[in-house]
Amino acid sequence: MLHTTSPPRLAPGPDEPFDINVDDETFDKLATWSRDYGDVIAIEPRQRLSRALVLNNPEHVRHVLIGNHRNYNKGVGFERVKMLLGNGIIVSDGEFWRSQRRMIQPVFHRRVIAGQAHMMQACNARKLRDWQAKAASGTVVNITEEMSELALEVILRALFSNDLDALSEREGGNPFALLVEDVTRDLKLAMRFRALTRHVADIMQRRRSENRIEHDFLSLLMQSCDKESGQPMTDKALIDEVMTIIVAGHETTAGTLNWAWFLLTQNRRVETALHDEVDALAGPPGFDELGELRYTRQIIDETLRLYPPVWLFSRKAISDDTLVHEPEDVQVPAGTDIFLCPYLLHRDERYWEAPEEFLPERFGDEQIKERNRHVYYPFSLGSRRCIGEFFSIVDMQLHLGLLSRHIRFKHVPDKPVLIEPHINLRSRHSILLMPESR
Ligand code: HEM
Repeated sequence: MLHTTSPPRLAPGPDEPFDINVDDETFDKLATWSRDYGDVIAIEPRQRLSRALVLNNPEHVRHVLIGNHRNYNKGVGFERVKMLLGNGIIVSDGEFWRSQRRMIQPVFHRRVIAGQAHMMQACNARKLRDWQAKAASGTVVNITEEMSELALEVILRALFSNDLDALSEREGGNPFALLVEDVTRDLKLAMRFRALTRHVADIMQRRRSENRIEHDFLSLLMQSCDKESGQPMTDKALIDEVMTIIVAGHETTAGTLNWAWFLLTQNRRVETALHDEVDALAGPPGFDELGELRYTRQIIDETLRLYPPVWLFSRKAISDDTLVHEPEDVQVPAGTDIFLCPYLLHRDERYWEAPEEFLPERFGDEQIKERNRHVYYPFSLGSRRCIGEFFSIVDMQLHLGLLSRHIRFKHVPDKPVLIEPHINLRSRHSILLMPESR
């Protein structure tokens, strides 16, 4: 008689088989299981073929993302992202990813971002005028929607400069605005979004035929060549990278600013400290003043701790591996799905005092030094760390620095403020705020 025995458990975990996804059910279960099982949760698959490990220990996170990162490819969930982004660097792996990352890296150089700061200031100056008018007329701001629009505008201008206005004029509106308007992330949206690639191809074509180079991300990407092969990207790869930058750079920043403004309305002490900092500036801050906006930066860091937009992401083990652990090491067979959840580690009492409280002081230099470096990773870690981190920090620091000099908000209680843990961690409903001039 043939006996089939299931392989031994990889680590403690729930008895029920379960497939981890970016959804409410997973969010709730992970919160419970991390309390029950701690550092490593082993989960048997329901419909998937491979077993899963959720890692909730900073040393294991470091091992997968830094120490032995070559053994881990992108994992579950990225197939869906591929429908939107083709083979852009957020989803690609191996030699193709390495070559693309090398070519894209110079686009995000400090010097280039410094050159984008004027554009960010101009977008925020328009936003300030709008909010001042709304404050004067007592008009409520839908901060969730407005942060989404603003973050989209900034990333599109960083990519296309004035070609964005020309495109909007030709098309009778900004065709990329569907990303703000349509918040469902279904197949229909994926198809409408992919249809936007023709506008990117069109702008590239116009620039080539006019022999025109702009000081923006698109021109830099078009000029970029692989150091080893000397070859530029194919047009298909270029378009995929542009679409990747739009998606990766828009919703993450928008979500963070949405939460930051909400948190400020709930924490008057923090708001006052922010006002003290921005009021001490000689004038509206620009790129050179960012060093003076240290507390503003801490507010952003603390917002990203409580509400990391990328709250859960995955890897797949290429070969067998071992995670050092007490009392027993954890075996990671080839093919195991690995899930990393910044949201859980960012709120883990073992590493954070009063983890549910909004305390930007945690990100003072001394406090950072005293903490394990790998318990905080909103931008991931290692060689696949977010390429847009500096761009988004500059964007958010300038936004809060410029706007909070003149505007403060009061929360308008409408629908309950709840987390929506889907591909990004967003607020389930739009948050409404009443602006006041200051
Ligand atoms: C608050 C803002 C942001 C957060 C929290 C964030 C977070 C992340 C995280 C966690 C990853 C790693 C995902 C993984 O390895 O599975 C990532 C990758 C990436 N991010 Fe961001 N991101 C932000 C803003 C941006 C912006 C503004 C851009 C572009 C302008 C951008 C472009 C990218 C790209 C291209 C990657 C893929 C990098 C690679 O795999 O080599 N991100 N981001």
